[in-house]
Amino acid sequence: MQSLLAQQRLSSLKEAFKSDFFIGTALGAEHILEKNTKANELIIREFNAITPENHMKSVNIHPEWNRYDFFLADKFVEFGQKNKMYLAGHTLVWHSQLPNFVHKIKSADSLKLFLTDHINTVAGRYAGKLNSWDVVNEAIEDDGTFRKSIFYNLLGEDFIKMAFDLAAKADPKAELYYNDYNNEQPAKRKATIEMIKKLKASGSKIDGVGIQGHWSINSLKLKDIEDAIVEYAALGLRVSFTELDLTVLPNPWDLKGADVNQNFENSPKMNPYPKELPDSVQTTLAQKYEELFKIFLKHQDKIDRITFWGVADNHSWLNGWPVRGRTNYPLLFDRNFEPKKAYTSVMNLKNTKPNL
Ligand code: G3I
Repeated sequence: MQSLLAQQRLSSLKEAFKSDFFIGTALGAEHILEKNTKANELIIREFNAITPENHMKSVNIHPEWNRYDFFLADKFVEFGQKNKMYLAGHTLVWHSQLPNFVHKIKSADSLKLFLTDHINTVAGRYAGKLNSWDVVNEAIEDDGTFRKSIFYNLLGEDFIKMAFDLAAKADPKAELYYNDYNNEQPAKRKATIEMIKKLKASGSKIDGVGIQGHWSINSLKLKDIEDAIVEYAALGLRVSFTELDLTVLPNPWDLKGADVNQNFENSPKMNPYPKELPDSVQTTLAQKYEELFKIFLKHQDKIDRITFWGVADNHSWLNGWPVRGRTNYPLLFDRNFEPKKAYTSVMNLKNTKPNL
């Protein structure tokens, strides 16, 4: 009886959700280079989509005007191809993690030259190999105004169209995404929709919106998330959750989202679970993931991919942001690469109920 039950249970996330959406994870250098057997076994067993957490960002892939470094990005693509995974490129145009030489650019023409060379070279190199590109990342502020990035300051909002048009030409097969955090929330969502409508009306190709999904178990707004899925899909776009994680830690200044420019001093109050996560919080995390996945499943016809921003809790940017040196527990796998209660709650949504 036990073995029959075991057989009826689905063996992995990617298997459980295969008729709904891709299930992805973000890879660091140690994963791309297959340094940790346990981590890599888990990646291959559970996920069918990957995003490079850092190695296609301009600071890494294009460190100087005339120098590109494709080593880890190439290895990332090889890894994905070898394992027949969905490959998400991240990201062509982002105000953060820019190489120093870009910060020194003073004229619109030079910036256009950078964007053209960068997108042609990077998107061109991987043309036909990636399933999607996050073409522009985080161009809009939480209040709905354009972020005053170097791109906006020198080129105005036209930089967005320019980036999408260059990407469409350099890699005609990749699905082109606009990716942001908090873009499920009303003000930012409204501005994003306006921006996308303009882009489409001008004849540009855009295929999807990435909702990053850096959320907290203490302030998850399910209605905003559901409204955003419906409204973005109504534009004729695919929706993906591109960087999902749920922090369980207190949020200094009640900080929302993922503006990487902020940081805070560490303190025991800010790092309440340095050894292990109490059962009650583990249960809340599991409930929140279950609520989220119920919405994802309800709208699976509009959603292409759910990507977690990391493999297991030891490998999460949330251990270092917005407070350095904390112990966070935002993902479905613990520091020993074992599935957590949250994993079970998500899998239970799909497990065939034994008919005994
Ligand atoms: O590789 C260097 C290492 O050589 C050096 O010793 C160390 C010292 O600080 O820094 C290492 O680089 C860090 C890198 O992560 C790799 O760990 C950078 O300082 C650090 O800024 C970088 O943080 C990344 C952050 O984006 C900024 O690029 C996070 O890993 C990454 O998870 C995070 O991801 C972003 C998404 O791309 C966009 N959406 C928000 C999301 C979270 O901020």
